[in-house]
Amino acid sequence: MKAIEIRNKYLEFFKKHGHAVIPSAPLIPENDPSVLFTTAGMQPLVPYLLGEKHPEGTRLTDYQKCLRTNDIDEVGDNRHLTYFEMLGNWSLGDYFKEEAVAMSFEFLTKELGIPVEKLSVTCFAGDEDCQRDNITADCWRKAGIPEDRIYFFGKEDNWWIAGEEGPCGPDTEMFYDTGKPKCSENCNPSCGCGKYVEIWNNVFMEFFKTKDGKYTKLKQHNVDTGLGLERMTMLLEGKQTPFDTELFKPVMDKLLELAQIDDIASRRIVAEHLRASMMIILDGGLPSNVDRGYILRRLIRRMVRHLRKLQIDLNELSKLIELNIETLKEMYPDLLKNKERIKSVIIEEKDKFEKTLERGEREFNKIVNKLRNEGKDLISGQDLFTLYETYGFPPEVTADLAKEQKLSIDSSEFDRLFKEHQEKSRIGSEQKFKGGLSGSGEMETKYHTATHLLNAALKVVIGKDVHQKGSNITPERMRFDFSCDHKLTDEEKQKVETLVNEWIKQAIPVTVEEMKKEEALKSGAECMFIEKYPDIVTVYSIGTVSKELCGGPHVKNTSELGTFKIKKEEASSAGVRRIKAILE
Ligand code: ALA
Repeated sequence: MKAIEIRNKYLEFFKKHGHAVIPSAPLIPENDPSVLFTTAGMQPLVPYLLGEKHPEGTRLTDYQKCLRTNDIDEVGDNRHLTYFEMLGNWSLGDYFKEEAVAMSFEFLTKELGIPVEKLSVTCFAGDEDCQRDNITADCWRKAGIPEDRIYFFGKEDNWWIAGEEGPCGPDTEMFYDTGKPKCSENCNPSCGCGKYVEIWNNVFMEFFKTKDGKYTKLKQHNVDTGLGLERMTMLLEGKQTPFDTELFKPVMDKLLELAQIDDIASRRIVAEHLRASMMIILDGGLPSNVDRGYILRRLIRRMVRHLRKLQIDLNELSKLIELNIETLKEMYPDLLKNKERIKSVIIEEKDKFEKTLERGEREFNKIVNKLRNEGKDLISGQDLFTLYETYGFPPEVTADLAKEQKLSIDSSEFDRLFKEHQEKSRIGSEQKFKGGLSGSGEMETKYHTATHLLNAALKVVIGKDVHQKGSNITPERMRFDFSCDHKLTDEEKQKVETLVNEWIKQAIPVTVEEMKKEEALKSGAECMFIEKYPDIVTVYSIGTVSKELCGGPHVKNTSELGTFKIKKEEASSAGVRRIKAILE
């Protein structure tokens, strides 16, 4: 089934069930400077979820153009996209769980013809903020989902909120079984191994989360749903990746035809970034050096770099844009009307970038001369990084030029600087998303300390080479990225969990002291980015278990943490794994 057919079926179905079909809001939010792009169908509807009357009534449906920028650097693998379309239906104080579940089930099984055997669902397991969602589970049983395919999970999996503050609630998620073998005995929809693909989320929005992490009841119970169109198209077309569907295939094939050297990741990056750039420009975005404009600039530049990597003549770009418009015009007729404008913005940015590349080459030559004068033949990581960061000069191009000059490059130092930079901008954009709401409440403080314990436990179980690559804490959970070259086995995960819990049970005091940075490092304290710290640093120690440079805050004693539980272990990027964990 083609994407547009799925979209039309969806809107028709909900229209039949009394929903008004409303247009997609622009990708660039109106009157909302707190987010860069629309990231979910509910975003433009927040005032109505909070109780304002919607002119079209209490039942709405639409398709929403969305862009999520957290994972730009992951695009190129077999699943990540920045731009995607979300199909959604809303009840604004109208129907609730029973009707929402019944309609979802009917749409999936009758309209899309997905066999019931392919479906699994998850419901909220309950906690001190909200009770276990037995009602929704009952609705699924009644619909025909057998008991062993109804799962319950905590906030980590079955609670939805956009950011840190706002309307939210327990959700029920629907999963499609791809038929792949189970990854382990405990394989389930939340394990992330790829057997189960999430296809739809129904959020029962009856709560509001305040800045200080408290939940209050909204004056009405809402339903907010989201179904990812590209993913559904992939499943219904029986494809392995979205890039194999009709949405991307024409461009992917054309790129293969034009490429002198094939690289599937580069083709995916070009196809994905081209589509995303076109959609941003369609909604009024222009390349610049800040915020939205910078995202667009990054997308276009990354696309140009990968076109070069594929050794495709950049003059082909114009034809590629036309081909993409041809592919997408049925879904987005406005593309056709704006063809010339879209083309000129992209081509102009490409031209500018080519100039950047020329400037970069001049700068590169200066570096080479300097090295020759000094009798050296290694281009430092810092020089590579300056070329990349200041001149936008891609490291792979530097590497090629260096080879011609018989020079070598310190790529591992470059990688380190690059990762550090990435982490800083990730933290920056997360901060932006949170709107500065990241707190240091009681739970965050506990998770902070748990992060140190997890870091220490990984070093014991996996090895000394494990290093922290990033972390993110919300009052509900912690996320921890670390260097590691393999997927953790169940045994390893178990050992890590047990070790952390042992340390918690041992009631180890957490102490803090100030010292000179060099002294701290000499004493063996861990830290992520040494440059980031001032000369005098604070060092937190947890007995002899852990010693880290850190700004805190931390609990006074590990006994305050409760029980540590690993919820998920997955790949984050090459050589970096990610653990999501909770304290109960
Ligand atoms: N707003 C919910 C989501 O994005 C439906 O998953």
